[in-house]
Amino acid sequence: MKNAKLLILLSFVLCFSGISAQESPSKEYQDNYKKVMDRTAWWRNDRFGMFIHFGAYAVAARGEWVKSNEEITTESYQKYIDEFNPVDFDARKWAKIAKAAGMKYAVLTAKHHDGYCMFDSKLTDYKLSTLFGGRDLVREFLEAFRAEGIKVGLYYSIIDWHHPDYPNVGNHPQRNDKEYGKRKFNWDNYLKYMHGQVEELVRDYGKIDIMWFDYSFDEYSGEKWKAKELVQMVRKYQPDIILDNRLKHNDGLSSKQRTVSTLGDFETPEQGIPDVPLTDKFGNAIPWETCLTLNGVWGYNESDKNWKSPELIVHTLVNCVSKNGNLLLNVGPDARGNIPQESVSILKEVGNWMAKNSESIYGCGSSALAKPDWGRYTSKGNTLYAHWLYPNIGDINTRGVDGDKVKAVYMLCTGAELPYQKSWWGNTEPGNLFISVGRNPQKPYKYDTVLKIQFK
Ligand code: GLC
Repeated sequence: MKNAKLLILLSFVLCFSGISAQESPSKEYQDNYKKVMDRTAWWRNDRFGMFIHFGAYAVAARGEWVKSNEEITTESYQKYIDEFNPVDFDARKWAKIAKAAGMKYAVLTAKHHDGYCMFDSKLTDYKLSTLFGGRDLVREFLEAFRAEGIKVGLYYSIIDWHHPDYPNVGNHPQRNDKEYGKRKFNWDNYLKYMHGQVEELVRDYGKIDIMWFDYSFDEYSGEKWKAKELVQMVRKYQPDIILDNRLKHNDGLSSKQRTVSTLGDFETPEQGIPDVPLTDKFGNAIPWETCLTLNGVWGYNESDKNWKSPELIVHTLVNCVSKNGNLLLNVGPDARGNIPQESVSILKEVGNWMAKNSESIYGCGSSALAKPDWGRYTSKGNTLYAHWLYPNIGDINTRGVDGDKVKAVYMLCTGAELPYQKSWWGNTEPGNLFISVGRNPQKPYKYDTVLKIQFK
């Protein structure tokens, strides 16, 4: 009787904690999980990348969704294609900006939803190269970034608002055009085109480190795209490539349902940061990357001057890393091919901070300590990095750190040793470490003052 009661109680607890007794990962799941973690090891180490949204929509200068937002026909959109001539485009300049910011990988839009190709696809004439003296912008990007030692990725829209066999579904610009809807759409034909273009990208351009597919919705998800076949083909040419997770949509999955997929290696939270490190339903860490714009939009927008401050970007990067995540930070070059000056200035500032503090970002992840009032933690091996972000009164208390186990504390950006004590004002219990930073309420170094705590 007593045992029966205990059993009922136990199943209640398990049920409400979301752990179901029979759920444990299959061998197949574990094997795939291991592959995902192995493949993403360099990427999880590097943490910080550049997203580049570049296309003919830069001429319209109202963001990359202009064709859909304003329900523009392909005929009317042509004026942007005809006008698009990025005379200032120099991939080496872009690569230097990324490098100086401390970015370790970069992802460029090879084709966005408007269907206009930035690469010299043999499967369409709807491409920049014919109007750009035969230059293949994607190839130039890949070569320039590789030359700077930056890993390279390509964004490819599986949605296509231009292809005649892509139906006017979802956010298609002609979604409300009844006549357009009467056309015959040959889906297999579209799939052949889409798979063919992806094959060109992974076969003809050397080593591609990341493929960033965008995106799935409603029933346009997974096998609708013949995703398994697509992934198999990609991996045949690029066995080590990392894939995002948008070949299948899994919006709204809670941590109790989330799994690592065979169709993608990392999750892609957009314009926001998860509250806690993402985990699968078995409690294992899941690789993830927040993608974020510097103003409010991905493609160039002439009137959006709502730039985030360098401080907010540094804090965002730290926030992501403190939860085992990456940050893919976007730039939207203008129609001439220049990264907006405002973006360049922000990235320069971020780069100045990274030059002294990147040790607390690269190779780092979450710490078991609770988030403190004054900032956040990242950690790596035997070292804890206390990121002092907000004004603070008194010493910095890294609550939860056992002072007896500490070897030394340093100011990361100067290398100066910092004094500390294990108790303050009767706060004598173990598990407090009060680091003296001169009783200055403001952090002494912008935008994040990093205190490096080394354990014995
Ligand atoms: C969305 C948008 C797209 C953008 C992408 C970046 O899916 O459709 O314009 O490229 O997010 O994450």
